[in-house]
Amino acid sequence: MVMVKKILTSRGEFLLERVFHEKEIQQIKELDDALLAPHQGISYEVLRAIALQGGLIACKKREKLAGAGMLVLESIPPRIFLEKTTALLYGTMLMPDYRRLKLGSAMGREQEKTALEHNKTRLLLSVRPENMASIIMRLQSGFDIVDYRMDYFGNDPVRDARFIMEKKLNKNPLKRKLPKPENTQTTEIMAGEKPDFKAREKIARLFSNGFLVKAYLKVPGQKKARIIFSRQAD
Ligand SMILES: CC(C)(COP(=O)(O)OP(=O)(O)OC[C@H]1O[C@@H](n2cnc3c(N)ncnc32)[C@H](O)[C@@H]1OP(=O)(O)O)[C@@H](O)C(=O)NCCC(=O)NCCS
Repeated sequence: MVMVKKILTSRGEFLLERVFHEKEIQQIKELDDALLAPHQGISYEVLRAIALQGGLIACKKREKLAGAGMLVLESIPPRIFLEKTTALLYGTMLMPDYRRLKLGSAMGREQEKTALEHNKTRLLLSVRPENMASIIMRLQSGFDIVDYRMDYFGNDPVRDARFIMEKKLNKNPLKRKLPKPENTQTTEIMAGEKPDFKAREKIARLFSNGFLVKAYLKVPGQKKARIIFSRQAD
């Protein structure tokens, strides 16, 4: 492994390390099985391919694994196909005890830096619409929600629906044009592990009617998010 960064938090020092070796890849696979497999896990083969590309980072506290981040830099056939200039964030996770310490954001910054070093101009990721922590963290770091796919991984309505988030890595972002008149719509979604089918139905309907997500905000004091959609007025 190769040390990437030290991060000092209120819970002590953490290290981000780039992972290449089988033993650590296996440990990260076990963490993924525990945290992400209920929704969509990763196979050992894909995880190993990510590590060999230089896209796997471990977050460690005193030699112990606290989390990990996976960045796909090149296609991994037959599972993942990417355009040359796109990198895919496959999963970023922390053990529950180590959340809200800005470690996810720090891994995100490293993922972005790695993507730039590989001449990527776009980062993509998919996320369950109920995954408030991940969505808000990525919005804060400059991603947009650009699509909603009910069948991103397959045809299982519980496991397969995802928002698609994108960040353009252009150094000089285009100046925003003057806002045009727009229609807005709002929906609330229960955050957490379970699918909120009612909210998903509304999200799908709004996307198919040309609405895009303008904001995704935590409802204070509740385990809920408010999603604000907008589309240009006719
Ligand atoms: C998503 C995840 C990686 C975030 O990591 P993290 O280190 O806790 O996130 P950060 O501390 O960097 O959070 C940055 C900001 O995101 C937002 N955020 C993070 N967790 C949040 C939560 N549970 N609820 C609402 N907002 C949240 C906050 O605005 C936070 O800033 P703040 O703490 O100053 O308010 C972590 O929650 C996790 O491991 N989740 C389980 C695995 C997962 O679902 N991964 C994503 C799918 S691949």
